[in-house]
Amino acid sequence: MDYVYGPGRNHLFVPGPVNIPEQVIRAMNRNNEDYRAPAVPALTKTLLEDVKKIFKTTSGTPFLIPTTGTGAWESALTNTLSPGDRIVSFLIGQFSLLWIDQQQRLNFNVDVVESEWGQDHYQHPALFLVDGVSSICALDFRMDEWGIDVALTGSQKALSLPTGMGIVCASAKALKASKTAKSVRVFFDWNDYLKFYKLGTYWPYTPSIQLLYGLRAALDLIFEEGLDNVIARHARLGQATRLAVQAWGLKNCTQKEEWYSDTVTAVVVPSNIDSSEIVRRAWKRYNLSLGLGLNKVAGKVFRIGHLGHLNELQLLGCLAGVEMVLKDVGYPVKLGSGVAAASAYLQNSTPFIPSRI
Ligand SMILES: Cc1ncc(COP(=O)(O)O)c(C=O)c1O
Repeated sequence: MDYVYGPGRNHLFVPGPVNIPEQVIRAMNRNNEDYRAPAVPALTKTLLEDVKKIFKTTSGTPFLIPTTGTGAWESALTNTLSPGDRIVSFLIGQFSLLWIDQQQRLNFNVDVVESEWGQDHYQHPALFLVDGVSSICALDFRMDEWGIDVALTGSQKALSLPTGMGIVCASAKALKASKTAKSVRVFFDWNDYLKFYKLGTYWPYTPSIQLLYGLRAALDLIFEEGLDNVIARHARLGQATRLAVQAWGLKNCTQKEEWYSDTVTAVVVPSNIDSSEIVRRAWKRYNLSLGLGLNKVAGKVFRIGHLGHLNELQLLGCLAGVEMVLKDVGYPVKLGSGVAAASAYLQNSTPFIPSRI
């Protein structure tokens, strides 16, 4: 294999997959085990109980499915709906576009709304399905309080695990819908999971043992920091990134402040610059991985992912790298300007590490 890694760490700033903490890597460095022996159901029981906390639900039923976010989408849809059922979907970016495509290919009747979300959905009798792949465990997310029926995420995002586990949480209303939903499903059928939950063995098929131990370690780290502190850290990193973008004289692709994301910032580049070249160069020259602009915004934006296991100084390294690449591609940035704006903010807002106070 060619030596492609370069010295030091790769600065991984794509919006997923994200950095995996050392503790999680060590927890996953183990042999396979018999998932029917008592240790694995005992571990699974703690995971199912604790994973509810990241959804902020006490009444939801979680499923840990060997899949990705896309599979978690399919699980949410096929378990709750029948072919021809009507879905109102909100098109706000690339992943809503892909979910809408999946909904159409699964033969649901989809109304696409391209404007912002209304205020009155809580009163609606429809099931409320939320893609939390880039938000759960990083942003304030309250499944019970907001009346969400199915929420889902993927392991490689804010949970900072390898890709491969879709985490889906269903409300009582969604579980009830799954008893009558006629969509064809086999691998994703919640009812198979529920049968094994009742038996106390938990798994209808073979789970990744390593991911289960990884999830245990990831949840332990999140609870040690405190979920609200994790959310506050993401808010801080998001704000610091936006201040840097502003200092560079560039625009956030997200137009309204209330829509800003604390997990990813898409930066619009001037029309004479190809944003894909920024991403290529960042990786080749500075060992910095930035996110490409996708689909409609390909070549026009690059994305800085700031989610998961990440701290302030790591972010400043990324921002310094972005400045150098911007200069490389001919954008007249003052080196240090974004880092100065971000670090002035972070120096005033970064708390002590909770476990070291
Ligand atoms: C918001 C959102 N939804 C869904 C997905 C798809 O997840 P996956 O690539 O794990 O299938 C992604 C992936 O980046 C995402 O960001």
